[in-house]
Amino acid sequence: MYEKVSVIGLGHVGLPAAVLFASKGLQVTGIDIDEHKVRAVNMSKCYIKEPRLDDLLREVVSNGLLTATTNGIDAVKLCDAVIIAVPTPIRNNIIDLSYLKSALEVVKQGLHKDLLIVIESTIPPKLTVDFIKPFLEESGLSVEKDFFLAHVPERIAPGRAIEELLHIPRVIGGVGPKSTRKAVELYSRVNPNLLLTDATTAEFIKLVENSFRDLNIAFANFLALVAEKIGIDVYEAIKLANTHPRVNIHKPGAGVGGPCLTKDPYMLTKVSENIFGVNLIFLARKINDYMPYHVVKIVDKALDDVGVSMRDAKIAILGVSYKGNVSDTRNSPAKVIVKELLRRNVSVVVYDPYTSESFGAERARSLKEALKGADVMLIVTDHSEFKNIDLNTIGNIMRHRIIVDGRRVFEPFDVTKKGFKYYGIGFGKAIKI
Ligand SMILES: NC(=O)c1ccc[n+]([C@@H]2O[C@H](COP(=O)([O-])OP(=O)(O)OC[C@H]3O[C@@H](n4cnc5c(N)ncnc54)[C@H](O)[C@@H]3O)[C@@H](O)[C@H]2O)c1
Repeated sequence: MYEKVSVIGLGHVGLPAAVLFASKGLQVTGIDIDEHKVRAVNMSKCYIKEPRLDDLLREVVSNGLLTATTNGIDAVKLCDAVIIAVPTPIRNNIIDLSYLKSALEVVKQGLHKDLLIVIESTIPPKLTVDFIKPFLEESGLSVEKDFFLAHVPERIAPGRAIEELLHIPRVIGGVGPKSTRKAVELYSRVNPNLLLTDATTAEFIKLVENSFRDLNIAFANFLALVAEKIGIDVYEAIKLANTHPRVNIHKPGAGVGGPCLTKDPYMLTKVSENIFGVNLIFLARKINDYMPYHVVKIVDKALDDVGVSMRDAKIAILGVSYKGNVSDTRNSPAKVIVKELLRRNVSVVVYDPYTSESFGAERARSLKEALKGADVMLIVTDHSEFKNIDLNTIGNIMRHRIIVDGRRVFEPFDVTKKGFKYYGIGFGKAIKI
């Protein structure tokens, strides 16, 4: 029975996991190299916006079940399971494993008999078996005999972390049957819905899931570009196509952001081959990466239609975070859009009720401040608040009544009835670029 757990990396994945294990009565030590985060946890201050996380953190710190430290080796020596949730970013198509390696170094120095080590970080296929296992065995201890090793990929979506950690099926992949069993013992304390496999399959399916979503969105974006050419509405088309019982096309939009879909597919390319000279995953990534630039083209067209040049225009961007109702701005399409507009000397104001990030543009503190005198309302993120915008009031303070909708927040014909010109991704009934 696991009682003492360490979690290395107290970020978007590690902090909710640490808090949740502690809330189930386990004694948890959070380990991070960032002293600010360690101090914040020990003072019950939650630095990640997630429903319920704040309250749970306060509860587990005040009852002594969660503490944080920068001294990882001592914590690992004292615990019976350690979870690693450090970043594994990709830069210029090269996977940066330096954070993982330094976390593993800490684990190796604190490694002791019967310790269970779980990798939650997203990693390329075979890393657990080909690198992590031999690296830890340099300690002189053997996996499956003296200690246990498993990959348990994280599947949470920002904004739903606690809910999903408790309820969505969790894949458990040990390097051997004993490791899988030990990891099941640990994770069954928080989630009864566990799916058992081996470590390499677990690594692979995490990448498959996110690549599937990225490819599906790329297909939707591809259809959006076609719809614009042939003068139809892609949202209407996809809605109708999805009534087929075996079709499920995702939504097109202003681009794909976040920490996972922009990165994980590249990890799969490390073990995949080009087929007929094309790598499907690279192609999908290229299409999705193109979409923010396409948004800028639509803005240009919309301004041209009313005779305003880019350099004389004021664009109000609504939404900076990479998805609706969260504060996370990592790899957000808004960054590319802002930079591209600023490069063209456009006056850009951003408004986002969830974050103070502005990517170098002027930041408005209210919707009205952002839209006052604006030529275009450009929606990049589908925060719920934007769906309730009072168009009659807003229309009166804008210089031109133009909406460029990157997320289909509005129904095109509802807004045109209110005197707005509507442009949107895949809305070919208005645009031909
Ligand atoms: N964010 C998500 O929604 C999500 C979902 C699924 C999987 N993942 C994967 O989980 C992993 C972690 O992602 P994240 O979003 O939590 O990252 P994050 O950047 O939010 O947090 C990572 C934390 O690790 C700490 N850290 C870095 N190196 C360390 C070390 N050597 N020792 C101790 N702490 C260290 C950092 O200071 C930071 O607090 C990544 O591999 C990511 O791909 C993330």
